[in-house]
Amino acid sequence: MSTRPPLIDLHRHLDGSVRLETILELGRQHAIPLPGATLEELRPHVVITTPQPGLIEFLAKFRWMTGVLADYDACRRVARENVEDAKNEGIRYIELRFSPCFMADAHNLDPSRVTAAVIEGVSEGAAATGVRVNLIGILTRTYGPVRARRELRALLDHRAGITALDLAGDEGNWPAELFIDHFREGRDAGWEITVHAGEAAGASSIVTAIEKLGATRIGHAVRAVEDPGVMDMLRERRIGIEANLTSNVQTSTVPDYPSHPLRQFLEAGLAASINTDDPGISGIDLPHELDVAAPAAGLSEAQIVQALENAWETAFLDPEEKGFLRTAP
Ligand code: ADE
Ligand code: ZN
Repeated sequence: MSTRPPLIDLHRHLDGSVRLETILELGRQHAIPLPGATLEELRPHVVITTPQPGLIEFLAKFRWMTGVLADYDACRRVARENVEDAKNEGIRYIELRFSPCFMADAHNLDPSRVTAAVIEGVSEGAAATGVRVNLIGILTRTYGPVRARRELRALLDHRAGITALDLAGDEGNWPAELFIDHFREGRDAGWEITVHAGEAAGASSIVTAIEKLGATRIGHAVRAVEDPGVMDMLRERRIGIEANLTSNVQTSTVPDYPSHPLRQFLEAGLAASINTDDPGISGIDLPHELDVAAPAAGLSEAQIVQALENAWETAFLDPEEKGFLRTAP
């Protein structure tokens, strides 16, 4: 049996990974009413245990995670704790993503200052743990292209602290074509591009993300299996696929683990990896996805190793640092 490469997660929303303890503490600190006063009372309001009807209902669960971000210190704390949690999962390299406006919304914070606080929190976490972190800034499609301009500006204010640009939120109602100019500016800023696509919309959404937004990686891409031409495009261009098994079951993107197309992606030679999406909402971590979800989706140990290799191959790191990180003891 081949040994596993060091653990790596390319797709994790830090605003979907707030600890329950932190929600309770921030709620108390800022006098924010919560639906429970103990971990046991709060958990069912935050953590999903059964599939939701769709992505929108899944995203509604973020309410209590973003609802306690009452000031910039709270944003910094959540970012730092995300890195500590990654360390506890045995992760060596992680790409954490966040939407400045989504984090700013509940308490009318300034998205640019939210971005600064997240960068600071992640740096503190990286220094304390030794985990290598890169940040991905998200434009939330659900706010529409006008508000997305403000979100982009907030990220561009801190461009050196950001590695890549992503588009997330309600894919079904807000197509990528609305954000072409935003992504051109992101590429001009030197950022890598990844886009949530083929999750709540069909395979053509993946093609738009690649051809019109310049994505070299796709978040989810589940519905690529519906179109052999799109499968060919993903293989020929070596596009990274950031698969998120439990998230896809919980959003009803797939009916269950065995129906997930990740195994098909790997058998077809696509550069697909295993990631966590929103571990706090989903009640999972990376070891769960590798050791429980992936076997449930029919992956062999060799395919799990391949998925980890694919994550290292498609990580947004320069080749020299990647080689060093990948092989360090
Ligand atoms: N934001 C957080 N999780 C998401 C998902 N699975 N799809 C789209 N946007 C998201
Ligand atoms: Zn996601």
